Amino acid sequence: MRKTLIAGNWKMNKTLSETEGLLQGLVRRLDSNCPAEVVVAPPFTSLSLAASLLKGTGIGLSAQNVFAEDAGAYTGEISAPMLVEAGCGWVIVGHSERRHQFCESEALINRKVKHALDHGLNVILCVGETDVERDAEQTEHVVHLQLTEGLKDIESSAVGRVVVAYEPVWAIGTGKNATPQQAEQVHCLIRKWIGELYGPAAGESMRVLYGGSVTPENSRGLLGKDNIDGALVGGASLDVDSFCAIIGSVE
Ligand code: G3H
Repeated sequence: MRKTLIAGNWKMNKTLSETEGLLQGLVRRLDSNCPAEVVVAPPFTSLSLAASLLKGTGIGLSAQNVFAEDAGAYTGEISAPMLVEAGCGWVIVGHSERRHQFCESEALINRKVKHALDHGLNVILCVGETDVERDAEQTEHVVHLQLTEGLKDIESSAVGRVVVAYEPVWAIGTGKNATPQQAEQVHCLIRKWIGELYGPAAGESMRVLYGGSVTPENSRGLLGKDNIDGALVGGASLDVDSFCAIIGSVE
């Protein structure tokens, strides 16, 4: 039985005071009987504050990125031990905005996944094709490559702490979500590939999230699919009403 996970990726949004307002609202509104696991990913500057506001609430804390080394001369970067000490239990790796705008390679993403897992973090590994790749019928090839390269040399003992997020790039921030059927098709493949890599039990238990223009209006349809185990929500996680409505659509 896979517990539905709703994760809010705030991207480069929310100052400290805005973080406080949003999280206080979320903590106040979240039903203690909520059937979903909830995680938020504020920017680095808000992590310590978020950790103190979320303490004891059951809401998980994620970073949006991490580097692949413990410490050293890497100006502007943040390591997994820093995130752990700041109170994070999770980190997002391989988001398409990191892949495309910051030129992150498959090799770097794989190093980041390893580094995060080695330090006890749970990882949300993002994969997904562009519109050009989908039109060229390259979706399977691209997602398979990103998945296998991202998980290269990851032990089966650690892969249980990885959640995959399928985020078609053409659906991110565009208001044009994948249909539940389109997403379900790719999620089934991801589960099959995880099974091939780590065995059927790992494939069955791996949570695969959908991300890309998830809203309160479309979340029920997406989350109703057998192989969609949650959502990685961008824009709609910045507003307490819409994020809570998405969480509330989990049955
Ligand atoms: O990480 C979240 C995804 O990039 C989705 O963002 O919900 O704003 O489309 P979005």
